[in-house]
Amino acid sequence: MRDATPTTIYLSDYTPFGFLVDSVHLTFDLSEHATRVTSRIAFRPNPQATDKTFFLHGENIKLIHALIDGAPVTPAVKENGLTASVPNAPFIWEAEVEIDPGNNTALEGLYMSNGMYCTQCEAEGFRKITYYPDRPDVMSTFTVRINGDLPVLLSNGNPTAKGDGWAEWTDPWPKPAYLFALVAGELIAHPGQFTTRSGRDVELNLWVRPGDEGKCAFGMEALKRSIKWDEDVYGREYDLDVFNIVAVDDFNMGAMENKGLNIFNSSAVLASPETSTDANFERIEAIIAHEYFHNWTGNRITCRDWFQLCLKEGLTVFRDAQFTSDMRSAPVKRIHDVIDLRARQFPEDNGPLSHPVRPESFQEINNFYTATVYEKGAEVIGMLKTLVGDEAYSKALDLYFERHDGQACTIENWLKVFEDTTGRDLTQFKRWYSQSGTPRVTVEDDWADGIYTLTLSQSTPPTPGQTDKQPQVIPVAVGLLGPNGDEVRGTEVLELTGERQRFSFEDLAAKPVPSILRGFSAPVILEHNRSNTERAFLLAHDTDPFNRWEAGRALAQNTLLRMITQDEAPDAQYLDGLLAVLRDADLDPAYRALMLGLPTQSELAAALHEQGETPDPMAIWRAVETLRQATAQHMQDLLPRLQSEALVDGPYSPDAEQAGKRALGSAALALTTRLDGGAMAAEVYAKADNMTLQLSALSCLLRAGKGQAELAAFYDQWHHDRLVLDKWFGLQASLAAPDDAPRIARALTEHPDFNWKNPNRFRALLGGLAMNHAGFHHASGQSYALLADWLIRLDPVNPQTTARMCTAFQIWKRYDADRQDLIRAQLTRVAETPNLSRDTTEMVSRILGT
Ligand code: PHE
Ligand code: ZN
Repeated sequence: MRDATPTTIYLSDYTPFGFLVDSVHLTFDLSEHATRVTSRIAFRPNPQATDKTFFLHGENIKLIHALIDGAPVTPAVKENGLTASVPNAPFIWEAEVEIDPGNNTALEGLYMSNGMYCTQCEAEGFRKITYYPDRPDVMSTFTVRINGDLPVLLSNGNPTAKGDGWAEWTDPWPKPAYLFALVAGELIAHPGQFTTRSGRDVELNLWVRPGDEGKCAFGMEALKRSIKWDEDVYGREYDLDVFNIVAVDDFNMGAMENKGLNIFNSSAVLASPETSTDANFERIEAIIAHEYFHNWTGNRITCRDWFQLCLKEGLTVFRDAQFTSDMRSAPVKRIHDVIDLRARQFPEDNGPLSHPVRPESFQEINNFYTATVYEKGAEVIGMLKTLVGDEAYSKALDLYFERHDGQACTIENWLKVFEDTTGRDLTQFKRWYSQSGTPRVTVEDDWADGIYTLTLSQSTPPTPGQTDKQPQVIPVAVGLLGPNGDEVRGTEVLELTGERQRFSFEDLAAKPVPSILRGFSAPVILEHNRSNTERAFLLAHDTDPFNRWEAGRALAQNTLLRMITQDEAPDAQYLDGLLAVLRDADLDPAYRALMLGLPTQSELAAALHEQGETPDPMAIWRAVETLRQATAQHMQDLLPRLQSEALVDGPYSPDAEQAGKRALGSAALALTTRLDGGAMAAEVYAKADNMTLQLSALSCLLRAGKGQAELAAFYDQWHHDRLVLDKWFGLQASLAAPDDAPRIARALTEHPDFNWKNPNRFRALLGGLAMNHAGFHHASGQSYALLADWLIRLDPVNPQTTARMCTAFQIWKRYDADRQDLIRAQLTRVAETPNLSRDTTEMVSRILGT
């Protein structure tokens, strides 16, 4: 049943629920199409609340009977819940409901994946399991009994009893319903053990389907390192006797932090050298850490309401980034994160879907699990830490855990611990949470009498619903280099709080070259018109590794834009500067591999749009091809040496050192392919004994318009492995030549292995097509139409994944009138589909601006 009239929910309307929950007892009688859920919930009036309406959420569930204090009642049941009259005193609510997990394709609530029962309750899925006040500020302990004839029966907390065909679990920590989880299936445990710093023995398990046992070892080790790290760095200890992780194939997101029972998309946890790339290993390590870290930042301290989502997500992303920096290379991690921020968050923040880190209204909360809430939310915490310093940050976090343990909190609570520990007034800083859009920071400079002056200005363009922007607190980390490349002023953080501000540096012997926004100290667009000579100087000398990379990036972007708009040849300063950096064997191979990267074609389109030009996707594509070719020729002599530097000794390991070498080798192979027509890539493919090499060689061949035999061989070798087959689909869609992309993608949708109801498979193919910039924006509009066809088909099956995939269209206003017309027609077709879900309706109308 669909909601015909979508309602908008506002942050400002928050009121506490009229009742507190003292305990929840649930009994599940599992059955594929008729699971019975019996609940026994102890309520009592909430003295803090004025509104005492007893409303319980409930959707797609059949009420069998209900009792209050043992007496049968007949509640008023509506499509989205029920109301009943209740005593003005503590009482026991009991209900029995029936649900149909076997037909739950939306993957929210209780559903089935390959014969396994599993749940997904965040954000509002618990209401599809039983009637309940499904809001994060209602917290309770849960006891769960599962009856079912499957060998493994799991829920949150500690196992308290079990017998033949049943198990009971008790979670002693009060939690909101969105952290509830249940899993039942034929599963195999990959076990582990951890002793916490206070001596608690914790049993760890990674549960997988038979056949996947060989892909568990890395995830388990990553989990142990995460637990240890949170003890060492944040002083946070684990608080149950067991910690279970379950891998499921059908999952809308990456993973979920349910208390003591994390549920993972199998792509976010299963790994082996033969089937996973280095990038997969790194992502898995980060997601395992992320979900584990939620135990404190999210679970022990949760969110008052869903507007506060960034409270747990921004902080937990920030924490997992710190973890990855500690496990691997900090500069490389920072560069990866900025690449990702620009690829996913900037388009969101500068288009029709722009919203504040803490949104103020929504129709469907599932549409707000965004790069802005997560990644910009983490950037905001990074800025706060930069402003107050490491020590104050630690103190504030200690106070946060001490003051708010067991509570459902707000951003106000979060900022208050910083104000109380530092004495700082964070009123202006708080605008980062309420103001949407990416601030632009412009730079002017002046040199006279040994004094160097930087004048920084800020402004944020209007975004949907916000026209007047106020200045924000922008920490701008700056260092100065002397004419010979030596650092004459180490990194200093300038606080830009006004619209325009001057900062002076005195007693300098010569005019310095500034290195601005070191470490990407704020999520802004730096507009600094400087010469390519200065950029090349920074590429050669900057002592800040992030800004050194950024200088190369700016040179690359500048030459590409001039190639596109003025038909210029590739800039020699870029090619020479790059060559010098790549020659420097003292630099980390991973870092050098990053130096070889280019801005994405989508970023170039955004940059052209920003300059007031209309981007032509084919012209962008051709410029990138030309620059790649020129780079290959320029580096010709160095390439063999880079290949040999990339060789690793000994058996495969996914560690940062080996992965960095392989990344450099792959980047060099891509250039070599432009010179030898793919001879070396074919050789690498034939000899590859790990997925990283196999996939990078295959990518090189496909980009060169070759590799059909390898593609077929890859399919034969891997078609039994769902995760590897996703790569096979994704690679073809994302790397097809622009003119072939619509046809290749369409043919793949007709492939027998295109199990489109599986979110990973759907995303691999259609998300891959959307990432193929020139192919997706093919002038025929065929790719737009193909995506829209599939959005319409998927929507009734899985609204969440459909709504997410709509974001491929969010950049439509950048392009020419013809393309805009084509996209508008497709979006309108989606919008007019009968019975369109609330999720997709909201997304499409926001993108269209209607
Ligand atoms: N809370 C999960 C995370 O950040 C993400 C998620 C949201 C998963 C909603 C499922 C549904 O780790
Ligand atoms: Zn999270």
